[in-house]
Amino acid sequence: MKFFIDTANLDEIREVHGWGILAGVTTNPSLVAREGGDFVERIHQICEIVKGHVSAEVLAQDVDGMEREGRLWARVSPCVVVKVPLTTAGLGACKRLSADGIKVNVTLCFQAGQALFAAAAGATYISPFVGRVDDVTWDGNELIRQIAEIYALDADIHTQVLAASLRHPMHVIQAALAGAHVGTVPYKVLKQMVGHPLTDKGNQMFLDDWKKVPDNDIGGQVARWLANR
Ligand code: G3P
Repeated sequence: MKFFIDTANLDEIREVHGWGILAGVTTNPSLVAREGGDFVERIHQICEIVKGHVSAEVLAQDVDGMEREGRLWARVSPCVVVKVPLTTAGLGACKRLSADGIKVNVTLCFQAGQALFAAAAGATYISPFVGRVDDVTWDGNELIRQIAEIYALDADIHTQVLAASLRHPMHVIQAALAGAHVGTVPYKVLKQMVGHPLTDKGNQMFLDDWKKVPDNDIGGQVARWLANR
């Protein structure tokens, strides 16, 4: 499973990009509004940092308006993936845009039938919202499993399952087990996933033991060894 970060915050994106794990970014109007500033400039800046797929959402609600906004978004950067809601207009816009080679992320998916329609409309990504499904007392990762299984049954479907609304580390692990191709994860959850007290403890023990060695400049030792070969 590839990792995207679900944020429009540049500091968070820069930091996690530095970890070497980031394949892309998802934003939505709520996330961009939270950061303030110019929406388009923000998306362009994110594309410059990540150079992977960056979702930018249309705000129009009719098919012509979505197509128009989508074509404009696609000109901002080759990294942009146009995000459309899973409505009939969104599906129509997805079909028109993807027919012209523009990548589309169909978002706000809550049942597998919607995901089949997104695939039929040529979506690059389908975004099922795991946490919001859990909120209404169904099982968000069962939805991921169903969609991944249905897509795998049809060799003509190339749409990737992008698990969204992941609220805690177990959501992410379960999404990977359920067959998601991508998980888009908030910064806070990525931080929860990367740390473990036993990792820190073990690392400190190695350092403490190595300090007892008289010549403990390992860089110097390796350089001398290489020079004397
Ligand atoms: O990727 C979708 C995400 O931003 C929504 O998350 O926690 O508001 O359901 P949440």
